[in-house]
Parts: sequence; C-alpha cells; structure tokens
Amino acid sequence: MIKVKNLCVQISEKQVLDGVSFHLKTGEFLAVIGANGAGKTTLLRTISGLVPISTGEVFFQDVSISQIKPFELARSGVIHVPQGRQIIPNLSVYDNLLIGALNLGLSTDQIETQVSMQFEHFPILKERLSIAGGSLSGGEQQMLAIARGLMMSPKVLMLDEPSLGLAPQIVLKIMETLKLLSQQGLAIILVEQVAMLALEFSQQALVLKQGQIVSFGESKKLLNSPDLVANYLS
Ligand SMILES: Nc1ncnc2c1ncn2[C@@H]1O[C@H](COP(=O)(O)OP(=O)(O)OP(=O)(O)O)[C@@H](O)[C@H]1O
Ligand SMILES: [Mg+2]
Repeated sequence: MIKVKNLCVQISEKQVLDGVSFHLKTGEFLAVIGANGAGKTTLLRTISGLVPISTGEVFFQDVSISQIKPFELARSGVIHVPQGRQIIPNLSVYDNLLIGALNLGLSTDQIETQVSMQFEHFPILKERLSIAGGSLSGGEQQMLAIARGLMMSPKVLMLDEPSLGLAPQIVLKIMETLKLLSQQGLAIILVEQVAMLALEFSQQALVLKQGQIVSFGESKKLLNSPDLVANYLS
C-alpha cells in the first residue's frame, strides 16, 4: 500500500528525516512514536505530499507520490487527519462531514450512505449533526475529524496525535474504532507521543529519533522492550 524508501527530508538546512524506510500493507496498523521534534509530523506530511522529499521515495500502490498532487493523493485514498483536527467551527457537523466527500462526485444517496457509516463508527455525531463543529467537545471534534477523513473511503488513514488533550475514556473509544477499521482492511499510520497507548492498539511500531528509525517491530514486543524507554525518552 505505502512503501517508504530511504526517505530524507531537509527543512531550512536541518535534516528532519534521515533514511526512513518501511512498508505498510492493507489492514496493517502501524504506530509511529518518538519524542518532541523526532520528525513524526514531518513523516506524515511528506507521505501526504505536503513536504518536498530531498532524497529517497514514497510509493502509494507502487506509484511514486512525487507524480501525484496532494489533493489527488487524498482522492485516491491517502487521508491525513492532522494534529489539531482542523474542524470548521462555523459549519454544522453534517457540513463538516460533507467537506470530506467534496469533489468525489458522489450522488446524494452515496453521500447519505457514507454519513450513516460514520454514525456506526461514532454514534454521538448523529446526535450532534446540526450543531456547529466548533461547539463540540474536544473528543467529539476528534471523532468528527476522523469521520470526515473516512467519508473519502480511504485505503490509508494517517492520524497525528489524536489523543492530545482528550479524556482517557474517549481516547480508548477512538483507539478501539481505529483497531476495528484496520481489521476491516484500512491501513493506518498512527503518530502518538503517548507511546504505551499506541503500542497497545497497533500491530507494528517504529520509533523515530532525530529523524531516524531507532527501533521497528511488533508493537507487543516493543512494549516489553527495556530499550524502548531509553530510545523513546532521550
Ligand atoms: N516548517 C518547518 N520549518 C522549520 N523547522 C521545521 C519545520 N517543520 C519541522 N521542522 C523541524 O523538524 C523537526 C521535526 O519536527 P516534527 O514536527 O516533524 O516533529 P514531531 O515528531 O512531530 O514533534 P512533536 O511531537 O512536537 O509534534 C523539529 O526540529 C522541527 O523544528
Ligand atoms: Mg508532531
């Protein structure tokens, strides 16, 4: 699905990503963990085509993303739920969801089917449908941001710190939904600073440190690894 090959990214002469390589298959749930400034957000933004690659390559379904514009990449199934959610505060929950389906050329029936599917994942959104996105709680806004991404029927869903600032119960609900979606075939890249949480729900994980992968493997193994804390915290 996604193949990242020896990816290097420089921003203002700083080497932000340095030789990052990994594969992501259909239905795989990959966690990317690492301290502040490790390059996690830059990795997602680069895969989305928002940050230029210095050297190396990223492939989506065997096509180099450098040949695809970011909006085309999103339309073909690579969706990025950014840190901070970016809900449009003045628009209703329903209209925020519709934004996810813009330019897909869906019929009204198809849009309604997509919206109903989001209610199955996040029932609270049905109750909030006509209120302004900006008046939702943080957890509801995060659910809306994910649902808006799912409106595009993605093949790959990338999330940047979805747990930030949310109550533990809501975080668990979101993680369980993500796990279910991956079991249904969605490939997921989850960026998290809360390493334990990400490792508990994902299958595979990579640890980034100063733009390099310092550890990669099964999440369960990493969870029990004595090196993790040293690698992750320092
Ligand atoms: N647009 C930019 N201009 C200058 N420096 C940048 C830019 N984007 C990223 N960087 C630098 O690249 C490094 C990695 O940043 P990035 O945001 O990818 O890290 P992160 O792992 O997501 O951190 P955090 O956990 O704080 O979100 C940081 O040192 C950051 O200052
Ligand atoms: Mg970040």
